[in-house]
Amino acid sequence: MAQTSTRSRSHTATRGKTAGSTTPDAIALLKADHREVEEMFEQFEKSRSEDKKAQLAQKICQALKVHTQIEEEIFYPAFLEATGNKDIHHEAEIEHDGAKKLIAEIEASGPTDEYFDARVKVLSEMIKHHVKEEEQRDGMFAEARDSDMDLDALGEQMQARKDELGAEVADGAADEDAEIKFNG
Ligand SMILES: [Fe+2]
Ligand SMILES: [Fe+2]
Repeated sequence: MAQTSTRSRSHTATRGKTAGSTTPDAIALLKADHREVEEMFEQFEKSRSEDKKAQLAQKICQALKVHTQIEEEIFYPAFLEATGNKDIHHEAEIEHDGAKKLIAEIEASGPTDEYFDARVKVLSEMIKHHVKEEEQRDGMFAEARDSDMDLDALGEQMQARKDELGAEVADGAADEDAEIKFNG
C-alpha cells in the first residue's frame, strides 16, 4: 500500500475544540455507521424469513447510500485537501463505485430472485474490505486523525447532512414499510 510520507501540510486550520458539543467527531460518526451496517448484515445472514430479508436489505442499502454520500460530499474531499493522499482517496472512491453498482442491483431485485442472497453476501464482503481500509492502522481514518482536518466541524456537517438525507428517505420509505408489515 503506497503511502505519501513526504507531504507538506498547511497548518493554517486550527483544530476546532467545540467544548460541550454533543455531536460525535467525524471519525466516531463514520465508525458508528460502519458498526450499524455490520450488525444489519449479520441479521440478514441469520434471517430465514424472506420479508425480513427484503426489509433488512432495503435498510442496508439505504444506510450505505447515505453513508457513502456523506463521505464523498464532506469527508473524502476534506481528507484529500488536508493530506494530499490521492492513493487512499481514489481507491476509496472506486470501492464506493463498486458497492453502488451492487446496491442498485439489490434494490432492483428481491429475495425471490435467485441471485439476491449472493448479491447481499458479496456486498457485505466488499464493505468489510472497504471498512478495513478506512479503519486500519495507517488507513484513511488514522491519517485523518494525524492531519489538521477539523474533525469536530466535519462531524457536525456530516450529522446535519445525514439528518437531511434520512428525512428524505423516511418520506419515501413510509409506504414500503407498511407494505412489508402487511405481507409479514
Ligand atoms: Fe465508511
Ligand atoms: Fe467509504
